[in-house]
Amino acid sequence: MDTEILRPISDADLERVAALIRSGALVAFPTETVYGLGANGLDAAACARIYEAKGRPSDNPLILHIADLAMAHDVASEVPPLAAHLLTAFAPGPLTVILPKAPHIPDIVTGGLSTVGVRCPDHDIARRLIRAAGVPIAAPSANTSGRPSPTTAAMVYADMAGRIPLILDGGSCRLGVESTIVDCTEEGVVTILRPGAITREMMVAELPHADVRMDAALTAEDEAPRAPGMKYTHYAPRVPLTVYVGAGTDVTAALREEFLRRTAAGECPALIASNETIAALSDLVPAERTYNCGARGNHSALASCLYDALRHFDDMPVTSLLAEGAAAVGLGTAIMNRLRKASGGRIISI
Ligand code: TXA
Ligand code: MG
Repeated sequence: MDTEILRPISDADLERVAALIRSGALVAFPTETVYGLGANGLDAAACARIYEAKGRPSDNPLILHIADLAMAHDVASEVPPLAAHLLTAFAPGPLTVILPKAPHIPDIVTGGLSTVGVRCPDHDIARRLIRAAGVPIAAPSANTSGRPSPTTAAMVYADMAGRIPLILDGGSCRLGVESTIVDCTEEGVVTILRPGAITREMMVAELPHADVRMDAALTAEDEAPRAPGMKYTHYAPRVPLTVYVGAGTDVTAALREEFLRRTAAGECPALIASNETIAALSDLVPAERTYNCGARGNHSALASCLYDALRHFDDMPVTSLLAEGAAAVGLGTAIMNRLRKASGGRIISI
């Protein structure tokens, strides 16, 4: 199958793509977080093709993408008050809310669960596509299962060429990490199943009387996670990754020592780090083995290039990756959650 990349995107283009979705085909599309691999969310056979194209385990449910808040009532049997409040405050935006599913949502979408993840993306192309299709669009991130999520059409193409007919190219995704997933099915409680750009701090400010907490599986990584997808290998680069966190100068010193040690052992490590760290190690690390994530402490810059960084050395003769992490506050919580998974837990606190 040839994979077409389509850009720019007129209304007539979107009608053609919407017809593809309605006919049961898969289409990759941009959102403000990462690219999604979309199918008609009411068509079980079309959704089955998503699992096949990604090589995704079938017990890992899909998110349904909606064009506006009214559509939430078409896919959920109920929208509890806390969920409604969060959707009003943060949607369209990088927030997925777990809701009790409506009876007509196919089991393959929810992995057999009684709940469904619902998200209204803050991206013009995504919402115009959903509206034109006239159905909720089921979409996981458009990567091969286990690989870093794609934030450009080229990254989607690298994983999905030959497997899907079309990629809508909307340029680089603005945020770069997947949506915050929250479960509000318990009264008075908002449980964060996956941290994202809608931070715990932002939800606490919006809901001062609710108990907004991280899922136990996020704090104790060995407990069985409640978002089924969180238990699989995720975001993994082709070579082993180790992440260093702590005060800037200490991290730089630790990276210098480790880079020297690995090079002396005959390895070919590469460095993913802040501008400051890369400058401080420029006497040691060749420029082509560095990926610059912007100013130290700029979490938005780091989030938006994180997955590109994790794929950057794929075709180079690099044998391992060393990365500078972020403080786990605000958006840094989401960044460190992804780096923990990408590194298989190899996080070194200095
Ligand atoms: O930003 C995003 O959320 C992107 C874009 C494309 O919208 N999508 C995305 O989808 O990240 P995916 O499939 O890669 O991750 C969805 C996560 C999985 O970990 C899945 O297990 C969890 O959401 N999930 C989906 N439905 C759920 C449910 N009913 N209960 C608990 N977790 C659920
Ligand atoms: Mg994913």
